[in-house]
Order: sequence, then structure tokens, then C-alpha cells
Amino acid sequence: MKKIIIDTDCGIDDAIAIMMAVKNGLDVLGITTVSGNTEVNQVTENVLRVLHFIGRDDILVYKGAHKPTVKNRVESVKIHGKNGLGDVKIEKAKRREDKTPAPVALFEMAKENPGVTVVTLGPLTNIAMAINLYPELETLIGRIISMGGALYQGNVTRFAEFNFFFDPEAAQFVFDTKIPLTIVPWDPILKNVILEKELLNIVKGSKVGEFILNLEETPMTFMEQFYGMRAAVFPDPVAMAYAISEKVAKHKIIGNMEMELNKNSLRGASILKEGERMEIITEIEPEEFKRLLVNTTR
Ligand code: BDR
Ligand code: CA
Repeated sequence: MKKIIIDTDCGIDDAIAIMMAVKNGLDVLGITTVSGNTEVNQVTENVLRVLHFIGRDDILVYKGAHKPTVKNRVESVKIHGKNGLGDVKIEKAKRREDKTPAPVALFEMAKENPGVTVVTLGPLTNIAMAINLYPELETLIGRIISMGGALYQGNVTRFAEFNFFFDPEAAQFVFDTKIPLTIVPWDPILKNVILEKELLNIVKGSKVGEFILNLEETPMTFMEQFYGMRAAVFPDPVAMAYAISEKVAKHKIIGNMEMELNKNSLRGASILKEGERMEIITEIEPEEFKRLLVNTTR
């Protein structure tokens, strides 16, 4: 069983990614939470509820950063709703998060499991903070798989994607380490949408499936407004799917990314550069992704 740590700002697609990890047999050592789609207290609450929903109250949850490294939070209420889960309600868990702060927990989990994969589904604030506190993490973490960045088309500004835009300094900090890195940027995600009709087929007759459908309601309405089709998008689940099966990447390139950190209209954009620092997924294998999504509903 492959061991992973999940770092998340649990909004709609993070919830699906967490369920995907568990239902496809990854060994989730723990989940650390960070502000992003919504504030970290709500994010933590969401993770506890999602784990309760799938009967995994045993997976420990650790609360992390309240704010990005430099700037204040930006909101994403339009897509993720007031509670971060598109205002979909699920039962409250009967436990709270562990008392250990996320960066400390990240270090402890990695120390006990050298070579572990960290899958990041939100801004990289906790990861940068943890490596800053414990530089040994550079050799303890086997790989970071990160949903973030955009090559040609952003989703917050014309060029910037939400997770890296939210805390560009943290993203650059992680790029500047030696930890092997796989980036899942926004561009291929937009080409891997699932039309509502097909999604209905995938999720039918299952409790988790129905939850996924309810979660995707707001993003589908958003897609309809902006792109004229009711379709579901899956940024974080694609990153998780790659952690489960590398076949999910139909095409990837080796390169470098540098964050634009200056206060101008490009702030938060990830600029593709020559280099060999990271692998960047540029095309997704839709059938492999759907296979893992179907497993998630079982
Ligand atoms: C990313 O931003 C968030 O809104 C999603 O959960 C995903 O992690 C997509 O840009
Ligand atoms: Ca996310």
C-alpha cells in the first residue's frame, strides 16, 4: 500500500480527492489542513466530516496555516460556497483534530515514513513552513505531487491558478528545495471535464456518488455560465489519481516553474522556464481517471 500525506484546503474537489485516495487503497497517514478555498478552521471541519462520511474517523487530521505567507487571504466563495463544500451539508464528526500543528505533524509523519509522497491540494503554505522549520524534510519526503499553477491559462487571473496565486512565496520556496516534484497545473484539468450526463451514469446508485454529484452542482453551474456546458471539473482528484496510478498522465514534460512575486498584474502566475526541476503533467488519460472515479463511488 502506497503511503501518502494529504495537505488540503478542503473545498469541493478536495473532498472528492480525499475520498478517492481512501477508496482506491492509498495508505493515508494523516491529513494536514491549510487556508485556501475557505478558512483553515472550516477546512479542518470539512475534512473531519468527509472522513466521518466514509467511515474513516481513524485518519488523524492536523490544523495548519491560517494565512498565506505574505498577503491576506483571497476568497473563493463563488465556487466553493460559504462552507467550502458548495454549501452541501454532511454529518458532523464526533471527534476533533489532533493537537499537533500541521507543520510539526508533517515532519513527524515523514520521519517515521521516509520516502513518503505528499499530495498537496491547496496553497503550499504548510509545506514551505514545515521545510523551513525542519530542513531534513528535503530528504525525508520522497515526492510532492501538487495541484497548482497554470502554463497558459489561469483561473483566478488570466495567467494565475488559485493555489499558487494564494501563496506564491510558498510555492517558490518549495520549488527552491530538492524534493522531487510533480505539478498538475490547471491547463489539462480544463480539457478533462466530465459532462453532467456522463457523471450521472458514473455516480448513480451510490451514497458517495450522490455526494459527489451534489458537490459538483456549483462548479457545473459555473462551467455552464463561462463555457456554455454543464460539466464537472476535477483539479484535486486528478492530482490524487496520479498518486494512485501514473497512467493518469497521458503526457508530461520536464521543466521549471518560477513564480511571479512582484506586485503587478502577473503576481501569482507560474512561468514555465527551461530546466529539469520538476515534471509537469500536460495531458490526462480520461479513461484511467474515470476508472478511479468509479472506484471512489463503490
Ligand atoms: C484549485 O483551487 C481550488 O479552488 C481547488 O480546490 C483546486 O485545488 C484549482 O485551481
Ligand atoms: Ca483544493
